Amino acid sequence: MGSETKASQNGPAVAAPQAPSGGAIECDWCLDFWYPAVRSNRVRTGKLQAAMLLGIPLAVGRDNQGRVFAVRDSCPHRGMPFTEGWYDGELIECSYHGWKFDGHTGRCREIPSLTADQDLDVEKIRAKSFPAEEHDGYVWVYMAHPGSREERRPAPQLPKFSNGYRSIQLEAHLPCSIDHGIIGLMDPAHGPFVHQSWWWRGRRSIHEKRKIFEPIPNGFRMKAHSPSANSAPYKLLSVYGKPITTTIEFELPNIRREEIRCGDYWFSSQTTVTPESPERCRIDFVAAWNLFRWVPFLTPVLRWFGNRFIGQDQRTMEKQAEGLKYDPSLMLIDDADRPAKWYFQLKKGYIESKRNGAPMPHPMDGPATLRWRS
Ligand code: FES
Ligand SMILES: [Fe+2]
Repeated sequence: MGSETKASQNGPAVAAPQAPSGGAIECDWCLDFWYPAVRSNRVRTGKLQAAMLLGIPLAVGRDNQGRVFAVRDSCPHRGMPFTEGWYDGELIECSYHGWKFDGHTGRCREIPSLTADQDLDVEKIRAKSFPAEEHDGYVWVYMAHPGSREERRPAPQLPKFSNGYRSIQLEAHLPCSIDHGIIGLMDPAHGPFVHQSWWWRGRRSIHEKRKIFEPIPNGFRMKAHSPSANSAPYKLLSVYGKPITTTIEFELPNIRREEIRCGDYWFSSQTTVTPESPERCRIDFVAAWNLFRWVPFLTPVLRWFGNRFIGQDQRTMEKQAEGLKYDPSLMLIDDADRPAKWYFQLKKGYIESKRNGAPMPHPMDGPATLRWRS
């Protein structure tokens, strides 16, 4: 335990008061944030793509100019999903009675059953539309709280450090709440058990780690450090002969960013845990890099390894979900589960500050050194 870091508060293993229950949670606090709704390449001009965010079904589309939009996948007339209807790149047409809507504004444009003398103002009828924008290979959708006056912050972007780079996107669906998705993502102790493989690490490589964390707005950051020498990908980087540093950070509600720098070379990734419903979430992993660009087939090879890796997490969470069905009591221990504790404390502080308007309290009052074996 680093004596220089008073905020570490190391103690014996204890049941954590903030530990999640196995049951469903409400997603309400997740409103007023951007989420990746769907991969860009699944949204074709003239077609609607179904997506689910926070228990709300969405129809995501791309108009003839290439601009994306998102509306609630429900016709305001009688609730028919728009994704059962048609979209011509201009207007959405409902399959039940043919009402037409503008996807960007949600405004109704035409009701075929109206006679010439019926003066219903169709433009007053609206489908619920959501702010949408596209970057890093996703259509991002902003899920505002109904009646929220909160200023909309910019959508999260994957940091990139040069113009030329390659990128991949991977995803996994998890049968658990956003809480379990996030603490699984930030969990430093499962690697040697869940991700055992010749190219990553095994149980025998377990050794003690000591990492300094610091508070950042709405989250925390593992300070720049030299990565574990016991995994093959990092060994490969030594060909560049430059010092390697890696930084990992978490930001509410759901983002983990990792940055690896090696001279002018870099690898940057962003993983988001998106609540699709109280009991289901989706992990989206996007990475970009300018490392080893001369290596042929690097992108498909990385995709293969990445899918294996994320698949190991996915299978683990599926098995865990079986255990969580019976609502067991859970615990979080020091120091390996400290990031999970910080997450629950950040979330609690965020919910409180939204309720009472006071500044959000931060669980860390300065840098903290955490020690664990993995
Ligand atoms: S339900 Fe959509 S037009 Fe009637
Ligand atoms: Fe993992």
